[in-house]
Amino acid sequence: EEFPVSLSHLPKVELHLHLEGAAPPAFIRGLAKEKSVDLSGIFDERGAYKYKDFWDFLKVYEAATSVLETPEDYARLTTAVLEESAASGVIYGETFLSPDFCGGRDVGAWREYLAAIREAADRAEARDGVVLRGIITCIRHFGPEKARETAVCAAETAGDWIVGFGIAGDELAGKPQDFAWSFDCAREAGLNLTAHAGEWGGPESVRDALTLGVTRIGHGVRAIEDLALVDRLAEDGIVLEVCPGSNVALGVYRRWRDHPISKLYERGVKVTVSTDDPPFFHTTMNNEYDRLADAFDWDEGAFADIARTSAEAAFCDGETRARIL
Ligand code: ADE
Ligand code: ZN
Repeated sequence: EEFPVSLSHLPKVELHLHLEGAAPPAFIRGLAKEKSVDLSGIFDERGAYKYKDFWDFLKVYEAATSVLETPEDYARLTTAVLEESAASGVIYGETFLSPDFCGGRDVGAWREYLAAIREAADRAEARDGVVLRGIITCIRHFGPEKARETAVCAAETAGDWIVGFGIAGDELAGKPQDFAWSFDCAREAGLNLTAHAGEWGGPESVRDALTLGVTRIGHGVRAIEDLALVDRLAEDGIVLEVCPGSNVALGVYRRWRDHPISKLYERGVKVTVSTDDPPFFHTTMNNEYDRLADAFDWDEGAFADIARTSAEAAFCDGETRARIL
């Protein structure tokens, strides 16, 4: 498909990207082959990831992640992911990292994965200028107990590179309040907070997530079903990490022009644009921008506004922010 505008030259800031979810399928197939693991069931005949719905996507995600075993595997993944980010003009990104997948929430093992990821990110920054930071993320359907261990990993490694704590996974499993201890632990360690909500759950789910004290919401788009909530988000300056291509690919909205990002933006909510799990959803940051321009007639000014909102909402330190503003 071709679109009249191409916004590939614009510098971009991406705040919502799952590291494993950004793994190119060929990269995962390569690792599976090296390790003699049969992952043929998660790919279609063209080699793309295959899943039926969001819950099946979560299973495929976990199956793909099973071949990411060592810190070195994660370093290679980080390199592959940042090549794609740089190709889309991303100058700064934040990625979700889950100790559940990196060493199983053991703090010692987690430090080794983190060191490998960081080293690969530093190399990419030196080569392409793309700056990466990490947000440690617990997985909602793995339950509150594992989330507490994840929060301890986060607190132990909070600092200049690990800048936030969050929660992903099945939004319909459990309640945000079950994770309050983990979010309190992360906040006390100085981490910024975000939570996935308002993707599969409605406005109530977003309200519940706000009780965790987050300043950003992953997705949050279904807040549009309650305009009082939309106005509260706008007034409180809560930032939405909107991933329109993800929502369309997973069927939250049928078509790009049905997506509420434009209405949220017009009503004063701080919206940002990210890819979530780009190869799963056949997207890139360039594709997100071009599709939004096509669906909503957004001009470069709108995208410059969104990029500025994103830089202001980044969890990095002020010095790094000044470089991307
Ligand atoms: N993990 C990876 N992608 C996700 C999404 N879109 N929602 C919730 N958890 C996720
Ligand atoms: Zn996500």
